[in-house]
Amino acid sequence: MVKRTAVLLALVALVTTFPASAGSYTDTEDLINELDRPIPITTVSGVLGKQASLPCDIRPLERDDAVYMVLWFKEEDNEPLYNFDIRGRQVAQARLFSSEKYFGKRAFFRATSHPAQLLVDDLRLADEGVYRCRVDFRNSPTRNVKINFTVVVPPDRPVIYDSRRQVKTNIVEPYSEGSDIQLICEVKGGRPRPNVTWYLDNTVIDES
Ligand SMILES: *[C@@H]1O[C@H](CO)[C@@H](O)[C@H](O)[C@H]1NC(C)=O
Ligand SMILES: *[C@@H]1O[C@H](CO)[C@@H](O)[C@H](O)[C@H]1NC(C)=O
Repeated sequence: MVKRTAVLLALVALVTTFPASAGSYTDTEDLINELDRPIPITTVSGVLGKQASLPCDIRPLERDDAVYMVLWFKEEDNEPLYNFDIRGRQVAQARLFSSEKYFGKRAFFRATSHPAQLLVDDLRLADEGVYRCRVDFRNSPTRNVKINFTVVVPPDRPVIYDSRRQVKTNIVEPYSEGSDIQLICEVKGGRPRPNVTWYLDNTVIDES
């Protein structure tokens, strides 16, 4: 009798997915007829502890117009949390204010990128919320955009166990052909809740 064993490729790779890049955003509406439309809202996410970028297009629609001031607000708070004031100044000499109640020294407005962006360092969970960027121009009406900002928390490293709770992560082990194996993948933390996907070689065999 020839006893055959097969090596099960325990290379069961596993992937938890969460938005990988800080500061990706989706355009929802363009800014034509700003006065007649509700304030457009874009969705932006950042990763806890990392830098986030809140976009706000400050370019005037008319060539001979100019930006006077950019103000950032959070939710129903009427006090701006960030001011970028260039009335009577060059952009590089803008007067800046960042409220200690919100970002304080963690925020910096980059007016020269397209779109302009409020960069926020060392993200905290409390930074989540709906922000409004208000742009005042010399001639044109004020423009408002809203950003629904969420903070993503990466999960811990996933761990693979067998049915006796022995850790099997990275371990390749022979099993008898025809025998059953049970592998459990456990991942702690993460916001939003991470998805767990099992791969056998490159083929998805289970998603949950
Ligand atoms: C997780 O799976 C659900 C349902 O398939 C999907 O809607 C969601 O976008 C996935 N989440 C991530 C972070 O990929
Ligand atoms: C902001 O995004 C979150 C998560 O996607 C969603 O649950 C919430 O309803 C959104 N809020 C607004 C005002 O769009």
